[in-house]
Amino acid sequence: MPVSPSSPSPLLLALREGTRDCHKSLEARLPFFDTDFDVAAYSRLIQAYYGFHAPLEACLGEYQEPLRAKTPALTLDLQALQLSAADIDALPLCQALPTIRNEACALGVMYVLEGSTLGGQVLKRAMAERFGMGPATGTGFFDVYGALTGNYWRDFLDRLGQASTAPAAQAATVQAAVETFQCFEHWLGQRNVLS
Ligand code: HEM
Repeated sequence: MPVSPSSPSPLLLALREGTRDCHKSLEARLPFFDTDFDVAAYSRLIQAYYGFHAPLEACLGEYQEPLRAKTPALTLDLQALQLSAADIDALPLCQALPTIRNEACALGVMYVLEGSTLGGQVLKRAMAERFGMGPATGTGFFDVYGALTGNYWRDFLDRLGQASTAPAAQAATVQAAVETFQCFEHWLGQRNVLS
């Protein structure tokens, strides 16, 4: 199913170009496909995802439409993985987050979070094959929009297409996206959940 618009906006092209290496670097270090990866390691990884997404989505505030909130799905996944509400409340939260000064920065952060729902489809299928997990039993975050994944992505691309075309605003969006990838990778490394 093609999820890109027929003519990508200059901002989307700049985001892809600016974050290509970040995506490669993070993808290479994520352990989903490691031979020794197991459900306990998956749980630790999702705990670290929670520690990044919960505070970051709080910072996004009204820039992010409520329907796009992904922290609730992470909470449900952690519950399915047998964490109690108290365990979840006690999880460490990332403090070194990208700075969201304005809409331009928010769009860069959201590009990374929304784009990850595309790779999420691959991960959902892989975790189903490896561990027999489904969206109701631990992979809900990776399938947060379910069958509407393509629709949500296209709607986000429409929003990107309406963004300011001022060079400074576009540069701030790309910078925020790069920072989001870097902060996430740094955080996951600190939590010891990367390969
Ligand atoms: C092992 C982990 C990952 C895999 C296998 C993966 C795979 C993919 C794939 C296949 C796509 C293209 C989907 C399509 O065009 O339909 C994609 C897009 C994307 N992924 Fe990942 N991904 C992973 C992790 C991540 C993470 C952790 C993030 C961000 C935190 C991320 C952010 C993005 C973004 C922003 C795009 C959109 C690129 C664009 O079309 O502009 N990915 N990923």
